[in-house]
Amino acid sequence: MKSSAALITINEAVTLLRTGHVVAIPTETVYGLAADITLDEAVKMIFTLKQRPSNHPLIIHVASSTQLHDYVKSIPHYAELLMQAFWPGPLTFVLPKTERVSSLVTGGQDTVAVRMPAHPVTLELIKAVGHPLAAPSANKFGSISPTRAEHVVTEFDGEVKVVEGGACHVGIESTIIDATDPKHYVILREGQISRAQLQAVTGQHAELLDVPNVKRAVSGNLDKHYAPQKPLFIFNNRQELDTLIATYSNVCVLSFSDDIKKGEIQITMPRDSETYARVLYHNLRIADQSNCNIIALESPPYSADWVAIHDRLKKASYKI
Ligand code: TXA
Ligand code: MG
Repeated sequence: MKSSAALITINEAVTLLRTGHVVAIPTETVYGLAADITLDEAVKMIFTLKQRPSNHPLIIHVASSTQLHDYVKSIPHYAELLMQAFWPGPLTFVLPKTERVSSLVTGGQDTVAVRMPAHPVTLELIKAVGHPLAAPSANKFGSISPTRAEHVVTEFDGEVKVVEGGACHVGIESTIIDATDPKHYVILREGQISRAQLQAVTGQHAELLDVPNVKRAVSGNLDKHYAPQKPLFIFNNRQELDTLIATYSNVCVLSFSDDIKKGEIQITMPRDSETYARVLYHNLRIADQSNCNIIALESPPYSADWVAIHDRLKKASYKI
């Protein structure tokens, strides 16, 4: 079958990566579409496969501090503290790059985004390849990130080889901070590692990027990103859901309780934010594959735990 043919071992992946091929790899956040960052043709292939504009920079994944220092020019003290606290883990730093980083990876910018992922399979892969791996999320440009190997197989119709690493533990993309300033950092993308966690380590208030004022290419900040194929609407109460059902009839409902009319497709969402993040993209994919006309998702609470999830939902959804 197509799906099993697309799954490969770590050794097969090492051979493919070393010989300039692109391979999908598991991380704790989402699956990545990886290439050896020293091989320009392989890096170019990522953009072709993803149908991603070439000025949208990629994250590089390192497995050691030696690799980090080979590709990054300088690291502010606060960033070192954050690396000690959260690496390996879902925190990405934008830092000044060394000349070793090809401008293909950075979309022509003089900074590079870097993180050490907390997934044993991928750490082993990076060590065996001997170079960092450039990897955006392993989805077509603009669609939902994959959190299971089978999502990648479906997304690329079996054309991309995938290293099986199980369901991603975090389930949404890493927190990204701009750490190019020696004293202060800015959050470019929210993720599981929260503003409060960053502040607790650095003792410094973390500003969130003011999107309209920023010129650099942060693809996660485009409108309509992380989106399913079917229209996704967020509802706040039963009345809004009823309006959606009356308007679109066949609705797939993702809600905290299963107390809805019979005949609708319903998926129950977890009430704690970490478990919710872990299953969100998987459940959106299930909803997308159902025969509904639209997806209606019950708004999570607006407390601090849910900030990164609201960010993704906002980018994926239509306004009611
Ligand atoms: O969790 C993750 O971060 C996953 C896994 C695979 O590591 N990767 C991921 O990559 O989400 P991607 O390409 O889908 O998102 C990377 C984000 C984009 O918004 C990109 O614009 C931003 O990182 N980025 C990369 N390099 C940058 C740079 N030099 N300056 C500013 N933003 C940068
Ligand atoms: Mg992405």
